[in-house]
Amino acid sequence: MVSRSFSRQLAIPDWEEFCSDIRLIYDNVAPDRGGNNADYIPILRDADPERWGVAFCTVDGQRMRLGDVDVFHSIQSVSKPLNYAYALLREGSEFTHRFVGTEPSGRPFNALDLLPDMRPFNPCVNAGAIMTAGIIASGSPDREAREITGDVMNLWSRMCGGIDEVRFSEETMLSERATAHTNYAIAYLLQGRTGLPRDVSLHTMLDLYLSCCSIEMTSEMLAIAAATLANGGVCPITGEEVLPTEVVKKTLAVMQSAGMYDNAGSFTLEVGLPAKSGVAGAVLVVVPNLMGFATFSPRLDDYGNSVRGVAFCRQLVDRFTFHIY
Ligand code: DON
Repeated sequence: MVSRSFSRQLAIPDWEEFCSDIRLIYDNVAPDRGGNNADYIPILRDADPERWGVAFCTVDGQRMRLGDVDVFHSIQSVSKPLNYAYALLREGSEFTHRFVGTEPSGRPFNALDLLPDMRPFNPCVNAGAIMTAGIIASGSPDREAREITGDVMNLWSRMCGGIDEVRFSEETMLSERATAHTNYAIAYLLQGRTGLPRDVSLHTMLDLYLSCCSIEMTSEMLAIAAATLANGGVCPITGEEVLPTEVVKKTLAVMQSAGMYDNAGSFTLEVGLPAKSGVAGAVLVVVPNLMGFATFSPRLDDYGNSVRGVAFCRQLVDRFTFHIY
């Protein structure tokens, strides 16, 4: 990196200038107090709404951090694209897509809608994410959801170069389980209409889905994971090939068309980058072949996306030509 730095061959050559521009955008967005914390479980309702963090990592490992990038929070729906990648990795594309589609739904993330062929729309809406958890669990019939969650946490750890420990929030999991009525309805619908892969147990499938939502990471860790996706599956920190390029390609395509809930179309129009948000306030964004970044701010808009996170993305692409179209 040092020799590449001297010869100015870095992914972002004017790093200092880039960082000062990012700081300006970060400061611009900070006063925005629009939106509200998710309030369906106490741990999200009571989270400090003022938290605001942004972390970047380029495909050659240059990193920057601003604000609350060290705060562990549940990754919630940010878990969905990696679970999809893991399903592709373990079970292959043909088997996976027999049970989950790749179409944007244009419907709220927890809607009970299915495609005309009875598959859930895509792996980023709850129905598709619950089915994706079922696909993963069906490959390990003798193992409990929590053990399989350990495998997923290990994958996250490799995605973020092991810079910190991937954690699990028992409190989040217990609250999620106690309030998961709509997710139970979705799971029964999937069992009745789509059919579950290898007749996996509905409870294992749901527990795996909810456990993966309850994984805790920081924005700094998520930024490196995003950079691994930007880098075709090779972690810029360790150089390890964590995911094959083919899997990354499909994962990013799904994030592009469905990662920002029913706002994914507008987000693609305005920001033009594959991204995934979660209800704890994280947004993970990939600038293919250049870098990944993650934002954290708990107040959400009506779609369930972090208000500051989306505002930051908009201002970023106003300033830089990162919109991929
Ligand atoms: O399934 C739920 O209700 C939450 N755990 C979903 C998490 C989330 O971020 C919403 N996403 N689509």
